[in-house]
Amino acid sequence: MTQSPFKDGLFEGKVVFVAGGTSGINLGIAKRFAELGAKVAVLGRNPEKAANAAAEIGHDAIGLTADVRDYGAIVGAMTQARDTFGPLDVVVSGAAGNFLAPVLGMSANAFKTVVDIDLLGTFNVFRGCHGLLSPNASLIAITAGQAVNPMQLQAHACAAKAGINQLVRVLALEWGPNVRVNGISPGPIEGTEGMARLAPDASTKQKHFDRIAMKRWGFIDEIAEGAVFLCSDAAKYVTGTILDIDGGSSLGDATQRQIDKGLA
Ligand code: NAP
Ligand code: COA
Repeated sequence: MTQSPFKDGLFEGKVVFVAGGTSGINLGIAKRFAELGAKVAVLGRNPEKAANAAAEIGHDAIGLTADVRDYGAIVGAMTQARDTFGPLDVVVSGAAGNFLAPVLGMSANAFKTVVDIDLLGTFNVFRGCHGLLSPNASLIAITAGQAVNPMQLQAHACAAKAGINQLVRVLALEWGPNVRVNGISPGPIEGTEGMARLAPDASTKQKHFDRIAMKRWGFIDEIAEGAVFLCSDAAKYVTGTILDIDGGSSLGDATQRQIDKGLA
């Protein structure tokens, strides 16, 4: 864990709900809020994964099961979290599905599946949580660089994450001044399912690495720190923004630029 500027107890008594919080980056976010004192509910489709994640978080965490594509089911789960812990102070929408496929190698249903999990899922989580929030709640969508930079074999994720970025901005407008709505766009984070799927071999991994100005992979706790920042009072005038936590990988081919400048 990197040295954190956030003090113990910062989220004492606060309630945090993380959709897609049963593994990877989102679980890391849930754990960090729990470490800072929050009561945390994590949600995924697999009940065993959800129970294990809650046990791993400890600190009275609960693991819930629903598919974010099912509006009634996700509202039911968030209501259960509110009934257990109280009004939701932080809601993170991070459930996602992804695979590499060219447009001609994906059926309409394959495209729809990713758009439904990522974009419709985020709509469902945010639309559904509004009546369950505490005053001055903070919402975070987990998006990705594909929202801005087109990527081959990623038509579904590019479209879905671009939609999420705009949804964040629209909700920030509609739900201000009380509810803040922001996004986090992680770069390639080591040891995650997303990385394993998007960089399955050494040459693809190298292409991703070449884009990173910081010349290292990101860590889950670096995304978690960003989430804590956005939900803390340090960011109380921040809404409708997408925070890139990506070592500069959304900026272009860093290796080529550094070679051109004689810096690599
Ligand atoms: P991950 O470990 O696969 O986590 C995905 C989570 O979402 C799991 O908890 C999964 O649990 C849940 N989930 C998936 N489909 C769901 C559905 N239909 N309904 C409810 N829950 C569902 O992924 P990750 O690699 O850590 O990525 C997490 C987030 O970061 C995603 O939004 C991803 O797009 C974003 N991101 C990741 C990277 C990266 O380097 N990994 C980079 C940029 C952005 P179940 O399978 O049990 O449902
Ligand atoms: N290439 C092309 N099409 C694919 C595919 C691939 N690699 N993987 C799945 N599909 C297609 C399926 O064939 C199906 O289309 P069809 O009905 O026309 O045959 C469609 O996508 C839906 O697949 P299904 O397995 O029924 O979806 P699901 O809802 O059970 O699972 C996924 C969703 C496919 C995204 C699954 O990989 C998943 O659950 N992922 C979650 C974890 C994850 O992706 N983490 C990384 C986050 S960045």
